[in-house]
Amino acid sequence: MTAQHDGTCRADFATSLAEKAQIVNATLEEMIAKRPEIRNTIRDAMLYAIRTPGKRVRGGLVLWCCQVICGRIRPDAKIAAAAVEMVHTYSLVHDDLPAMDNDDMRRGQPSCHKAFDEATAILAGDGLLTLAFEILAREVSDSPAATKLIRTLAEAAGPAGMIAGQMTDLESENLPGSLTVLQQIHVNKTAEMFAAAAAMGGICAGADDEQIGGLVKYGLKIGLGFQVADDILDVSGTSEHLGKTAGKDAKQGKITYPGVLGMEESRRIAEQLTAEAIETLEPFGAAAEVLRQLAGALLDRTR
Ligand code: IPE
Ligand code: IPE
Ligand code: MG
Ligand code: MG
Ligand code: MG
Repeated sequence: MTAQHDGTCRADFATSLAEKAQIVNATLEEMIAKRPEIRNTIRDAMLYAIRTPGKRVRGGLVLWCCQVICGRIRPDAKIAAAAVEMVHTYSLVHDDLPAMDNDDMRRGQPSCHKAFDEATAILAGDGLLTLAFEILAREVSDSPAATKLIRTLAEAAGPAGMIAGQMTDLESENLPGSLTVLQQIHVNKTAEMFAAAAAMGGICAGADDEQIGGLVKYGLKIGLGFQVADDILDVSGTSEHLGKTAGKDAKQGKITYPGVLGMEESRRIAEQLTAEAIETLEPFGAAAEVLRQLAGALLDRTR
């Protein structure tokens, strides 16, 4: 691939992500606006967390996977994308709390518990988590699909998924930690949500079990790669550029890829995971080009 071609692909991909982010943002706003019963204090904190400029990669992934399978973005996929971003945003609000990673900055702005207070941030997180499942149950037009979406997201975000990863992440602070434990933490806390997002896009498109299985494999690979890159960026990035406090992992004794394997080997693993992610797309043929580009873009990301 020539540099120019590569550059054009990247520009196309950035435009596609920006379009997807717009759809996700509009759906998030609409879903919260549809519930005027949410009282002001909690609404303000939920909206604050949601409106901070997240990349919307997981929501985008839902939409792209729907498109790859059925050729268009179905309305149910927009709901699923919003639900995934609500759960992801809740996880960040709680991750930043003093009892967890204690970070005062998120997405370039004061973390939710700094902009409000700890109790409000805990409840805003709970609100986003719960609302995610409410919108899947209420807004998804096809009820067998809704049940599958709820199950997929609950399993990924729940106590055998993201919560397990977050628990082990905290329990492993300042301990020697093996590569096996590290990999399990990263798969649980991050990769499973990517796999769920990919599967949810497929579910909305009416994908068969084999296709869903393929999307899950892809999601797990890019998701693990995403967390390896996050660990790398914590070492090599600046707080200004990342929008969150850089250099915290080492200070807090977190078990990370650079900590266990060094930066060079971590970069090699991120590249390998990207290549493996691209290999999983083989059965989807040319239709999955955007997912190949996504894998490459996540490897090259700087924030
Ligand atoms: C941050 O995720 C948390 C991790 C799992 C590494 P993102 O880097 O996707 O955060 P936002 O949504 O863009 O802020
Ligand atoms: C968080 O991992 C993963 C979540 C499930 C929220 P990190 O703790 O590394 O995420 P950042 O670096 O704070 O975004
Ligand atoms: Mg954390
Ligand atoms: Mg953190
Ligand atoms: Mg991190």
